[in-house]
Parts: sequence; C-alpha cells; structure tokens
Amino acid sequence: MKSKRILITTPIYYVNDKPHLGHAFTTLVADVLTRFFRKRGKEVFFLTGTDEHGLKIYESAKNLKKTPQELCDENSFLFKKSWENLGIEYDYFIRTTDKAHIETVQYIFNLLKEREELYEKEYEGLYCIGCENFILEKDLKDGLCPFHLKPPIKVSEKNYFFKLEKYLKVIEKEIKKGKLKITPEFALKETLGLIKQNLSDFSSTRLKERIRWGIEVPFDKDQVIYVWVDALINYISAIGFYKNKNNFNKWWNKSYVLHILGKDILKFHTVYWPAILKALKVKLPDEELIHGFFTINGQKMSKTLKNVIDPNELVKVYGKEGTRYLILSQFPIADGGDIKESQFKEKYNADLANNLGNLVSRVLTLKNKKEVEINQKPSRDFKKILKETEKNYLKLMEKYKIYEALKEVFKLIDYCNLYLTQKRTWELINKEDKKSRDEFKKQISNLLISLEKIKDLIYPFLPDTSLKIEELIKNKKVEPLFKRL
Ligand code: MSP
Repeated sequence: MKSKRILITTPIYYVNDKPHLGHAFTTLVADVLTRFFRKRGKEVFFLTGTDEHGLKIYESAKNLKKTPQELCDENSFLFKKSWENLGIEYDYFIRTTDKAHIETVQYIFNLLKEREELYEKEYEGLYCIGCENFILEKDLKDGLCPFHLKPPIKVSEKNYFFKLEKYLKVIEKEIKKGKLKITPEFALKETLGLIKQNLSDFSSTRLKERIRWGIEVPFDKDQVIYVWVDALINYISAIGFYKNKNNFNKWWNKSYVLHILGKDILKFHTVYWPAILKALKVKLPDEELIHGFFTINGQKMSKTLKNVIDPNELVKVYGKEGTRYLILSQFPIADGGDIKESQFKEKYNADLANNLGNLVSRVLTLKNKKEVEINQKPSRDFKKILKETEKNYLKLMEKYKIYEALKEVFKLIDYCNLYLTQKRTWELINKEDKKSRDEFKKQISNLLISLEKIKDLIYPFLPDTSLKIEELIKNKKVEPLFKRL
C-alpha cells in the first residue's frame, strides 16, 4: 500500500447482547493491522463502535424490562471493556446514539432528499406481529411464520426508497477497475454476482409506529431511518463529515480507507454503502477486507446452543496475550473455520509456554551466565533465514494474511529452538578455550539477533509480550513469559 495514511474500520456491533468471540475476531484483526502499519511508519486511525438502533435492540430491552437506552449504555460499555481486556487500542469508539452521529445522519438524509435520491413509495409486504418484521413469502411454512406459527398480515406502508438501481453500473465499473478493491476473491465474486442480479431500490425508512427506536427522518416525523443506513453512515460521521470538514478530508479523502467485516454483511458494504456514497458525491472506500465466519466446535455460535464464547472468559484463563494468540492462530481469515476450544490449553502450552517462552528463557539464561560480546552480524545460515522470514512476513501482512504471517514467526522460533538443542549451546559455557568461547559467542549472537527479530515481528499480535522480551534483553533478566497451564 502506497498511501501514508490509513483509516481502518470494523463493523459497529449490535448491542442487543454482549460481545462474543466473533466480534472479538474482527476487532482483533483490525488491531493487528493497525499496529503493523503504524510500525511501518504509517499514520493510522482505527475506528470501531456500536450499532444501537432498530427493532432487535428495542425488543431485547423490552424483554429485559429496560429502556433501550439503558440496554445500549450497558452493552456498549461491555464492548469497550472487552476490547480493553484484549489489548485492543482503537482511536475512536462511535455509538449511533451519539448526538453528533444522529445529527450527521439527519443532515445526510436532507441532502439525499434535496438531490432527489429518495422517493416515496407504498410498500407492501407480509408482516408478522410476533417478529415485528416483514417476512418473505418463501420463508413461510404452510402459510405461517415458522417462529410464531401464526399467519402474517398484509401491511402496506409508505416509505422513502433510496435509488440504488441507478448506481449499480457505476459501482460495478469502479470495482472492476480496482478503484474499490474487494478482498479476497470470493467476496469480489459474490459482490459482482449480487450486482448482476440487479438489486432493486431499497426502503431506507420505516414507519415510526412500528420501529420506535431509531433516528427520526428530519422531514417526516412519522418515519425513522432504516437501521442499516444509520449504521453505515458511522464510517463518515465518526470522522467529521458533517461538522469537521478538515478532519473528514484528512481521514477519508486523503487516506486509504479500509473496511474490515465478516461475509454476513457483505451486501450492505460492497453495494449499498458505495451507492449511498455515490449519491453523496463522496469517494468510495479504497478497500474492503471480508473475512470468513467461524463455527465453535463444529457448530454455529448461538445463544440457544449455549456455545457462545465470551472473550473475557478466555482472558481469565489464558491472559490477554494468550487469548489474542489463540484467536489469531486458528485459521486464515479469508477462510474462517472451526474454533476448537478443547485444544486451546494444549495450543497455549505448546506454542506460547514451550516454544516461545522457553526459547526466550533458554537464550537469556545462557547469555546472562556468561558475559560475551555479541557479534553484530549473524552467521550466514541465520542471515538467510532471518531475511527470508522477514520478506515472507511483510509480503503476507501487506496482503492482510495475518494467520500465515504469524506462522512465519513461529517457524523462526522453531528454527531457533532446534538450533539451540542441536548445538547444545549450554555445554560450551564452562569451556574456556578460545575455540569454544568463539563458538559460544557465535551461537548466542545468532540466537539473540533472532530474538530481536521475533520480538519485532510478533509485536502486532502480542504487543505486551514483545515489550516484555525487549525489557528482559535490556535488563538482563529472565522471567517466564507465559505461565504453563
Ligand atoms: N450492526 C451490524 C453491522 C453494521 S456495520 C455498519 C452487525 N452487527 S453484529 O453485531 O451482528 O456484528 C457482525 C460482525 O461480527 C460480522 O460482520 C463479523 O465481523 C463479526 N462476527 C459475528 N459472528 C462471527 C463469527 N461467528 N465468525 C466471525 N466473525 C463474526 O452486523
């Protein structure tokens, strides 16, 4: 990436419930990339937050006998707290109930109306009172709502429709030209497929009478803004689209804009959002990075299955760094996969306590036992492996292949551990002849130079561990990095 400045965003999460491992995964990916690009000298703004309007939240609050605002405040706080527990350092946390966001959304709605991007249309659909939502004919079972086993009623309401259709061609063109990059390939294909299906204009408002918890349409007090339109606007409201043009210019127009999201919400981000931006005459994001979904022990994560993993519970067992590692080392982000919780402990012990932790303590113990001057340059074999590791790592990180890049670092850790074991460096400690002393110096130098490299490369993934290694090297101390479990 050439740009010196990057805006990195995550989806904003629904606050109808507390955060789970899925949310943590996306946010961690954003944190790792933020740290990586910062280390490479780029200026990065990392944006995340919570999506607080809509029926889902309204209903959850009602069930819990709370006001929607109370539920939003409680759960939004839990998201912040979880990110803190995971060492995730965002620059701004937006909430869609923030006054500034609401004002921006209303300002944008007025703009869209003025520019004739909206039109009123009678909307007819099947409505399930139990769900308080529209339901498609094809989803009915024997004419009944499958959840409430009741027939839906025909509802017709007047909504403001957004003119999506007229933008499909231009979005397709920008995507094909690579102006809006969609990564990886499966997401690009899916987007182009969606555009080919000729998605139709969509209803961008709802009747307030039905959806009470939403941002009021500024020119029609009977309507609220559709929660997805409200939510997407966060990406520009957070950086001052309405009232801080300088900041907006800096972080949107003069920055590389990278949205990170899961494949479940692709359509909204790769088609709807670009269309809204076109209507606003605002440049499109530069890239959207879509990751796969994961299952937990082979099953979809869901509250009914009681298999939702709370990242905070993992932190209690494995610590902040251990949890970060376990989440990030499961599978390539593009693929998604299965999180095997039963293997967490074994993986933690094997990779962190044994491989990385032992290497650091073995090398530093040996080095501290015998004062030797460290060679500035590694020997030829080490030079080669260090160069190769760094080259592969950078190439992978630039392509957001963070799982693969982390693997490269662990390959280097394995190499060092094997070297130490095979060379039996510790046997040279008590030998005072010049040859042995030189050999010891060479081996310890190779290992220390590698440790320095490992510490740098691992920083985006395990920031505290990286700092700890640095401190141990500097202060000639040996302390276990990870407790064995
Ligand atoms: N509020 C909308 C997003 C609006 S963005 C303008 C939303 N929220 S959500 O709380 O449902 O979070 C969705 C995101 O959480 C997914 O896109 C994905 O990034 C992450 N994940 C949720 N479950 C997940 C998995 N099981 N696996 C991986 N990521 C998951 O949709």
